Amino acid sequence: MARLSETQIDEVRAHSDIVEVISRYLPLKKAGKSFVTTCPFHDDHNPSLSVSPERQIFKCFVCGEGGNVFQFVSKYENLSFLESVLKVAEYSGIQLEVKASDLYQKPVSKYDKEHKLLKEAIAFCRYQLSTQAGKPVVEYLKERGISPEVQEAFQIGYDPGELGTYLIKKGYKADDLIALDLVKDFEGGLRDSYANRLLFPLFDANGNPVGFSARALVAEQSPKYLNTGETILYTKGDQLFHYDIAKKKSRSEGAITLAEGVIDVMALYACGIEAGVAALGTALTQNQIELLKKACDTVRLCYDGDPAGRSAAYKSGSLLFEHRFKVEVVTGLNGLDPDEYRRKFGNEALRTLVSRPLSWIEFLMEYLLEKYDLNNFSQRQDYAREIVGRIALLSEEFDQQSYLALLSEKTGIEAAILAGLLPKKVKTVRPVIVKKPRKRDTLLAEDTLISQMLQNKEAVGLYQQKLDYLIHPIPQQVTMVLMNYYRTHDTMVLADFLSMLQQEALIDYVLHISESEVLSAAYSPAIVAEAIDQIQLAAIDASIAGIKSRQIMSASDEDARMAKISELKKRRHELVGKRI
Ligand code: CTP
Ligand code: MN
Repeated sequence: MARLSETQIDEVRAHSDIVEVISRYLPLKKAGKSFVTTCPFHDDHNPSLSVSPERQIFKCFVCGEGGNVFQFVSKYENLSFLESVLKVAEYSGIQLEVKASDLYQKPVSKYDKEHKLLKEAIAFCRYQLSTQAGKPVVEYLKERGISPEVQEAFQIGYDPGELGTYLIKKGYKADDLIALDLVKDFEGGLRDSYANRLLFPLFDANGNPVGFSARALVAEQSPKYLNTGETILYTKGDQLFHYDIAKKKSRSEGAITLAEGVIDVMALYACGIEAGVAALGTALTQNQIELLKKACDTVRLCYDGDPAGRSAAYKSGSLLFEHRFKVEVVTGLNGLDPDEYRRKFGNEALRTLVSRPLSWIEFLMEYLLEKYDLNNFSQRQDYAREIVGRIALLSEEFDQQSYLALLSEKTGIEAAILAGLLPKKVKTVRPVIVKKPRKRDTLLAEDTLISQMLQNKEAVGLYQQKLDYLIHPIPQQVTMVLMNYYRTHDTMVLADFLSMLQQEALIDYVLHISESEVLSAAYSPAIVAEAIDQIQLAAIDASIAGIKSRQIMSASDEDARMAKISELKKRRHELVGKRI
């Protein structure tokens, strides 16, 4: 198995830009010399993740997550370090001599067998559309305005009731078909689960097939939609329809569009909105919210235009808004669902409507008019209270103020009075992650030494001559990597050094040291020497204490012990003497 050399890794790092790479995943906002965004690695409420173009590193002030460009991609995409190097190389247009396949064996998914089986099922059902039996289905799709392109993109198919038989003839086992809910065991015989239905395959976040949403083709078939039951690959509420594609497209579309029905997602797709998803017959679940969070911080709700749809938008929107999404709501559907709207008014009309959503607060102001009667004074107060409660969650002062002004217009209550309803501002101090107290002198000395070694190769030389060990495990491990790093590098480039630290604890520690103001002293041999003495002193004290606590077995033991202690005390004395 080939490997990437350190030089190649450094080269990719040097030719990439962490700001450019992270902004492929998250919207970055300029803040002084850095960029900030909400941290994807914890449930973040303020932008706590900071990206430094100068230092080419990222760091979250709240959860402490940090590292270089590779560590971001690896953490975000759940890739190995080397996979993340390849990905960044690809992003940055860097040709590596090594092929991905030389580097690592693509891990065989635990569910390869199941995915293969489902792919075979999808292919069979797609093929049916080109057969005589599939003619009425093709006609149905045509009537519904689902073009061949959309059929292809969504891998739409049809099961005439022969799927199970076909797969078994191909050598698949009945038990495996049953396990994936492709067939059901019915009084000794097998029956296709989705016989005579239109099939919309479902894929997981990585694009692997996991099941089907099967729509009735005639009114007599009930239920209208039949989804795959609980299997090892599919759990109701865990997935979003079309998420694998929407996740990728949401970045360029600036939002992920959430609709109620799978056909609505196709309608959106047909008019150029490819980042559409649907929840597949459940209210929005925590799991689905997590998926959305990984894709985009803006969710555009495009629910049905009827009262039920508006009420669902209110519920989902409230939930998403509380989870700090930027929520937008598409309105003006004239009581129709997006698919009906498209068929009645055309692609361009739907596209226009979706591109002009209301902001969450605007939607609330409109929606809550159905709940409160503004002609009644106390209801007007309740209306104002409810909306100010939501305005309070906005992070930008400007947004808060302008919505208060708008609300004031609507209610006739002065903006200043409305502002009085906002919870009093508590000056928020950024909770800095404080690692274990580092007061103890030895630790401080070790931190100082590491800080010096992070600045100058010479410090490592001094360390090797005079000490060559550290007491605490993390600084000790970092020192080993530092020695390794300076074997091939003359100067410190932190972002490259980070590539060599494969453990999170070490990365955190190094970032902590390199950012600490207490340890900001520039390299000086005197500081290094002082730290080394201090560590030696601590080591001697530890040895003395260790020897003193040892059990005595014999008189000669005792003699040896005293001799050792006195030798250590002498060395201690020399050290202390030197220090005064
Ligand atoms: N749904 C479901 N089970 C049902 C009915 C609906 O899982 N018995 C889900 C489906 O994912 C469907 C969504 O809820 O896409 C919305 O349902 P509905 O509004 O009833 O259907 P439409 O999207 O209008 O579907 P169509 O246009 O095909 O009638
Ligand atoms: Mn519909």
